[in-house]
Amino acid sequence: MKILGIETSCDDTGIAVLKIKGSKNPVFDVLSNVVSSQTEVHKEYGGVYPIMARREHQKNLVQVLGKSLKKAGLLKSSEATSKNDEQIREINKILVRETDLQETLLSFLQKYEKPDIDLIAVTNGPGLDPCLWVGVNFAKALSYSWNIPIIPINHVEAHALINFLGVKAKGVFPAIALVVSGGHTQIILMEAIGKYKILGETRDDAAGECFDKTARILGLGYPGGPAIAKAAGECDPSKKLGIKLPRPMINSKDYDFSFSGLKTAVLYDHLKKTAKIKNGKEYMCEIANEIQQSIIDVLIKKTITAAKDYKAKTIILGGGVSANSELKKQFQKKSLEQNINIIFPEPVLSTDNGLMIAVAGYYNKDKVINWKNLKADSNLRIGE
Ligand code: KG4
Ligand code: ZN
Repeated sequence: MKILGIETSCDDTGIAVLKIKGSKNPVFDVLSNVVSSQTEVHKEYGGVYPIMARREHQKNLVQVLGKSLKKAGLLKSSEATSKNDEQIREINKILVRETDLQETLLSFLQKYEKPDIDLIAVTNGPGLDPCLWVGVNFAKALSYSWNIPIIPINHVEAHALINFLGVKAKGVFPAIALVVSGGHTQIILMEAIGKYKILGETRDDAAGECFDKTARILGLGYPGGPAIAKAAGECDPSKKLGIKLPRPMINSKDYDFSFSGLKTAVLYDHLKKTAKIKNGKEYMCEIANEIQQSIIDVLIKKTITAAKDYKAKTIILGGGVSANSELKKQFQKKSLEQNINIIFPEPVLSTDNGLMIAVAGYYNKDKVINWKNLKADSNLRIGE
């Protein structure tokens, strides 16, 4: 079977085609995974601007779909796919709020044949509401026009399940998943694929949001995670300036997080320092190193504690922050000490992409719904 995965929950427009051979021991074959990033658009604001992100998705979706189908060898021109008036009316009705998409999608649908796809999987939450709706309505229009079944996908679940592209699920559970991105920081007990319980989450900013906001304070650019990681990597471990930041909630007796205090501590430290010091390379790399280490310390402590408490066999990492190599290195060391397996995606699959939605689509293939009933839910929660 072939699954088309569509992702638009934040600032990446992602569409992938995944081929799955066999059912007992499925073999995954990635036919394409195209991501159009909006980093350049949001850079000057130091964060994602939802209305602009929505506009960019509308601009990009048809192009990304074309590229993805072409790469998968599924884009075939046709003269016989012209839509009748009723179909055109229905597609325009589905895209009534996505007027920028109506024309481009209609001409695409008239130009190309229905592709050899069995299922459409689309993120319907959690995420930025205006962005989610663009992807959901786009997917509904495709499902209607091509008469292909559709499945709604939880974005957080997809960040965890992308790990099962290369790893067999057998022997992995119970597992503790840590999903850390720009919008989410959650510790999830996974008893099996589809059986989840949120054990803890952030009470304010997400870990990636903390990277982004502190990088903005320091003038390091956007996205903040890679910028802070780079500055931290240039640091002299002797720590001449003695910068010490808090590890918020590290000793709290729960699995929750709080990162807004860390951001405030960085702001105060930055305000306190003289221009001469804070413009120096030494300050930048030392504070970046301390921000990164503070976030790593808290994430590792809470996740390992949850893994021990629930006798987990595996720790599963996912989400943009799990692209951080220092985080992965330290997590590997700690989980090895505890005799717990750890799995994480390769960096391009840690951040948002359509492939993770297609993989999650495979594991949710029994949850097909009528496209008419599909809705975006920005507060969608896993396991509820
Ligand atoms: O999963 P993702 O692409 O989007 C959301 O679902 O939010 O995650 C994006 C987040 C951003 O906050 C970005 O700064 C962070 O992931 N990020 C990183 C790294 N690469 C991306 N954080 C730390 N280290 C990295 N190498
Ligand atoms: Zn994400």
